[in-house]
Amino acid sequence: MASLVSSYRPTANGTDAPYQPNVSNSNTPKQSGNFPTLKLNDGNEIPVFAFGVGSALTNGEHILNATSAAIRNGFYHLDGAEVDGNEKALGDAIKRSGLPRSQFFVTTKLWTVATTVKASLDASLERLGLDYVDLYLVHWPQVAKTPDQLQQIWAEMEAVKQSGKARSIGVSNFVQEHLETILRTAKVKPAINHVEFHPYLQHGNLLDFHRQQGIATGAYGTLAPLRKGAPGPVDSIFTSLARKYQVTESEIAIRWAMDQGIAVATTSTSEERIQGYSRRIPSFKLSPDEIQEISQLGRQKHFRGYFTDIYRDEDRR
Ligand SMILES: NC(=O)c1ccc[n+]([C@@H]2O[C@H](COP(=O)([O-])OP(=O)(O)OC[C@H]3O[C@@H](n4cnc5c(N)ncnc54)[C@H](OP(=O)(O)O)[C@@H]3O)[C@@H](O)[C@H]2O)c1
Repeated sequence: MASLVSSYRPTANGTDAPYQPNVSNSNTPKQSGNFPTLKLNDGNEIPVFAFGVGSALTNGEHILNATSAAIRNGFYHLDGAEVDGNEKALGDAIKRSGLPRSQFFVTTKLWTVATTVKASLDASLERLGLDYVDLYLVHWPQVAKTPDQLQQIWAEMEAVKQSGKARSIGVSNFVQEHLETILRTAKVKPAINHVEFHPYLQHGNLLDFHRQQGIATGAYGTLAPLRKGAPGPVDSIFTSLARKYQVTESEIAIRWAMDQGIAVATTSTSEERIQGYSRRIPSFKLSPDEIQEISQLGRQKHFRGYFTDIYRDEDRR
């Protein structure tokens, strides 16, 4: 097995700083020591690898078991969402682990605002059985019908951060135009924009805009080239790099995003795959040329797996 040790500790600005295991505050490790954290623009740190409890996992027992397996393997960054109905099982997995709350980095997301953002977050916290989340995201810009409403929702997000019930606040599925709308009135910038991100959906200049603004990038759907986005132009480079580093193609796909300073959420129903992630992803790093080559090949194809009803077929933002 390739014995390269990751020396990369990406920051929100995408700079390459020396990797130090996340042990500075031993009270709150939040991730197995093998994975770095990413510094957010509000000073908080987010583990670069999240176990997503959404989409592929279908019911409470299923979510509870898969999330418990992830926790057993050192994944304490758990990514849930109101709309996926997974907050209760996510909270149950935390309780079942017997580990202290402070060890976890918990994300959840706002889908609709029936009354106020505060009321939506309170309902999520109730389902999670927690008194705060580490990260609260506006799940999609369509939560608002107008730019004014989006600014109002962001002001309410700032208030829940101020209250301490959400330690960091961010957004998801925003294109640059949506970010610009909230930045016009924001007192607190979004810490992160969590988007579908893989070689076949690189979003044009969005990541450069994030870097200029000090907004971190979160990725989901990173394995699309191996799943619904297959077959495609990155197939053979994924296979050859997997052979070179003696890892799996999924691990190449995840590392391609991580090595660009992006926090990745993935999921799995297989404990074997989760163990592999834990053991192998920190054991290697793609070179800048390899990252570049995958990016270039990926741009030959466009594929979007989520929110296809909102974005037109050829919309690559
Ligand atoms: N913010 C948002 O709007 C949003 C939207 C979607 C998702 N998310 C979050 O992101 C998380 C991950 O989303 P995702 O499901 O799209 O993630 P993904 O990382 O692209 O895919 C994960 C899936 O890939 C499968 N897989 C792994 N290696 C494979 C291979 N070599 N060939 C074929 N399949 C393979 C896994 O199956 P096994 O079970 O067999 O391992 C798993 O079901 C979600 O759980 C959710 O938390 C957020």
